[in-house]
Amino acid sequence: MRKFLIKQWLRKHDWFWETRTRIFAWYVGLTTMFIGLSIPIFTELTIIQVDLRVKEDLLEEIEAFEESFRDDTEEDIAIIFDRFLQYKIPGDKTFLIATINGQFYRSSPLSLPQAISPDSPLIKNVAQTKKPLRGKNLIPDSQVGDIIYQAEPVEIDGQVRGVLIVANIPQGERIEVLAAILVVIEVLLVAFILALIFAWRMVGKVLNPIRSLTKTAKTISETDLSQRIPVRGQGEMAELAKTFNKMMHRLETAFKTQQQFLNDASHELRTPITIVRGHLELLEYNDPQEIAETIPLVLDELDRMGRFVEELLLLAKAERRDFLILEEVDLSELTVKMYLKMQGLGERQWQLDSQGKGKVIIDRQRIIQAMMNLAHNALQYTTKPDTIALGSAIEKEHIHFWVRDTGIGIPPQDQERIFQRFARSSNSQNNTKGAGLGLSIVSAIVQSHNGRVELYSQLGKGSTFTIVLPKNTKLKNTKLM
Ligand SMILES: Nc1ncnc2c1ncn2[C@@H]1O[C@H](COP(=O)(O)OP(=O)(O)O)[C@@H](O)[C@H]1O
Ligand SMILES: [Mg+2]
Repeated sequence: MRKFLIKQWLRKHDWFWETRTRIFAWYVGLTTMFIGLSIPIFTELTIIQVDLRVKEDLLEEIEAFEESFRDDTEEDIAIIFDRFLQYKIPGDKTFLIATINGQFYRSSPLSLPQAISPDSPLIKNVAQTKKPLRGKNLIPDSQVGDIIYQAEPVEIDGQVRGVLIVANIPQGERIEVLAAILVVIEVLLVAFILALIFAWRMVGKVLNPIRSLTKTAKTISETDLSQRIPVRGQGEMAELAKTFNKMMHRLETAFKTQQQFLNDASHELRTPITIVRGHLELLEYNDPQEIAETIPLVLDELDRMGRFVEELLLLAKAERRDFLILEEVDLSELTVKMYLKMQGLGERQWQLDSQGKGKVIIDRQRIIQAMMNLAHNALQYTTKPDTIALGSAIEKEHIHFWVRDTGIGIPPQDQERIFQRFARSSNSQNNTKGAGLGLSIVSAIVQSHNGRVELYSQLGKGSTFTIVLPKNTKLKNTKLM
């Protein structure tokens, strides 16, 4: 039940899932963790530092005592202690305590805190020592209170007569340190809050392009692909915006091409439909001769529509991954076969230029189809005495197939354009029955083989179309456009 409520709440408040909230939450979490860890570590280290200094002070007192006593020939331990303690003023919170034969003798200053008073267990204990001692004892009932002490036995004639104990209670110093740390914490807290405000704003600023990208993406409809995201600055976000814009450009182009294609295709289909309709409307049903004359005309138009639809389907298929069926093909045999097949197209001076030798990997049927399209065009733009030649060759890693004719040629300004769908050259408009898809089909087949088509043509002299393919075609991913 509870889990369900939380889920519902999260779903309703989708700001919780926003990248900004999440980055911010991480920031808060990490910073809190660092501060939370560093404060106790910092405190502990400072206290250790204070203790070290105290210990050094104690050592200094002991050394001072040893020095005063080293050159002394005095045999009486009480006098030795007296001389030292009389004029030795111990540092702040430091106590010098002298014991003789395990008993308290005197101290400086005179009054001692409870924890190191003559009757305290600590002093009674340490007074018995025969060796130098160092230690740290917790003062009961005190939060920061430790006693740090050092004890030095005094030997006279090889016998321990008394002990000098130097003790310090660094409580006051510790409290000072802790107060300073408290100030540090307060400053940190203010800085932390400021940092949070800045972080929230900065994250928002950094993520702004994403928000604007989403907004733009939302306003894009199928009919309006012209929207672009403003690119600001550099870095990943600008890169993202650029990539998005490029993608939009490609989509826009693809969409326009598709629109154009549909336009042209419908236009192309309307003509034969109009012709067929016209023939049938005017047909005299009782006149057998007219019927006999009309039927071939109508069938011819229907054939043309049929061919056109076939071509459209082929172009659509060429975009698919499984368009090609690759196989190993004997180049020489294929060339001869195509040569024989082309001769059936019509009466011309057919010629076989050359046949490449060797095995290649291509889609046999598609290549035959592309070459037949080229031969068909050659036939269309030549007359009987003209030559149409075909050939193949292997050059390094590439196969060349060509169809050469001595026909009307193609003007230079049209040589690139005619490979586009529905495009025809200006000098052949009325000469052709095709829809202008033949060369785009050749292009599609060649491109799916990772190859290219080259055209060499001179007006009035003829044209040569050359298909260049890699020797071993590998399947590639289909493109978007
Ligand atoms: N061998 C050629 N000689 C002259 N012009 C050609 C030749 N091949 C193609 N063309 C020109 O290229 C145009 C496009 O050819 P294609 O795509 O096959 O369409 P279609 O044959 O349906 O017109 C043709 O209309 C023609 O103008
Ligand atoms: Mg053609």
